[in-house]
Amino acid sequence: MNKTALFFSPEGGNVNRVTIQLGEVIGNEKVDIIPAKDMVKEDLHKYSQIIFVCSTVGADHWTNEIYVDEWQEFFRKIEEISFEGKKVAIVGLGNSVLYPEHFADGIAHLHKKIANKNANIYGFVDAEGYTFNDSEALNEDGLFYGLPIDEENEYDQTSERLENWISKLKSDFEF
Ligand SMILES: Cc1cc2nc3c(=O)[nH]c(=O)nc-3n(C[C@H](O)[C@H](O)[C@H](O)COP(=O)(O)O)c2cc1C
Repeated sequence: MNKTALFFSPEGGNVNRVTIQLGEVIGNEKVDIIPAKDMVKEDLHKYSQIIFVCSTVGADHWTNEIYVDEWQEFFRKIEEISFEGKKVAIVGLGNSVLYPEHFADGIAHLHKKIANKNANIYGFVDAEGYTFNDSEALNEDGLFYGLPIDEENEYDQTSERLENWISKLKSDFEF
């Protein structure tokens, strides 16, 4: 069976650590953990399953066309590649205490980019169990487009959240 690609950005902080944790939950032999900036376009065809792990750093960062961020660069590099037939899921870090009006918005920005590539996106998560006021990452049914993780305030829930999420994702993904 093909490995699942775990693409993450940025390196060296919470996202990096949670991606490693996620790899352990899935099984290290079943994943390739790849920093977004090191993605090799020619290798993408090897992966029929991809999990993206991102953070939230504010709307400016995502919408400013001039700002060259690793995710913008990632999707620019694969502009002409469709994700049709690929299974995709998203993990997004945020801080629900400092940013309760924009909790884990990064999931939404990534979701939009991936939806534009016609991927099949799985792993939506019920907002129940999270404390926040608003998020761009909620669909019309009140589900997050991916798994929110709050390492600053709810780090003690991270392992369980990852394990529950992967256990549910197994009905769509093959690990
Ligand atoms: C400048 C800045 C802006 C942020 N904006 C948001 C935000 O709008 N919503 C949110 O949920 N978290 C926000 N966060 C919190 C980060 O997403 C969170 O701390 C995350 O764990 C950082 O991951 P990292 O250590 O890999 O960079 C922000 C953090 C920083 C530093």
